[in-house]
Amino acid sequence: MYSPTKLIACALIFAQLLGTIYCGVYDNTDRWVVSDKTQNFPENAVLGGIDSYGYDNYVGRIVYASSILPARVRSETGYTTYNTDTLANQATYYELLVANETVSYHWVRSYDGFRERNAVSVGTSALNERVYVCRARTDGGIFIGTLYLAQKVCFIRYENFPMRQISKYEVLVRQVTPTAWAPFVNQIN
Ligand SMILES: *[C@@H]1O[C@H](CO)[C@@H](O)[C@H](O)[C@H]1NC(C)=O
Repeated sequence: MYSPTKLIACALIFAQLLGTIYCGVYDNTDRWVVSDKTQNFPENAVLGGIDSYGYDNYVGRIVYASSILPARVRSETGYTTYNTDTLANQATYYELLVANETVSYHWVRSYDGFRERNAVSVGTSALNERVYVCRARTDGGIFIGTLYLAQKVCFIRYENFPMRQISKYEVLVRQVTPTAWAPFVNQIN
């Protein structure tokens, strides 16, 4: 027989589990601009890959099932795809990563979920893990994928291709270059 107190405890534990499950939050370290295909494509969007049809793919992010995930965005059409560690999907609403005079983005070789310095995180997953942006060459292109460090692979699933789990990949990192302060430049002479 279950006592009422036991049932209440179970409900509370269940509520706590739900509390931790629904918690994908955006990372605000970098500048992401809300976009869709009706808007002008930002000049300083960050190039990430090239898909099987030869279209450039830019780095984006989307929300899916309480997770923030990296996305691949075609500049010409706004066609946006992404994947979790299991499924591939399309999005119509997305944000684009943008660089500026002081912050630029680069891809560095990495492997096995190694935590690279200054790796760009899009935000957190439904399991409250940080989600990073990876890319790798597969399926006739270079595809932006989803990196959960704990799972040690770059997950890439594009359209009807099978899920790829790649242990040697590249990670997106940020580089901050402070702008020179004009008054000192003059004093050098
Ligand atoms: C560049 O972007 C970063 C954040 O991504 C911001 O902190 C910084 O102020 C920006 N710099 C300029 C010159 O707009």
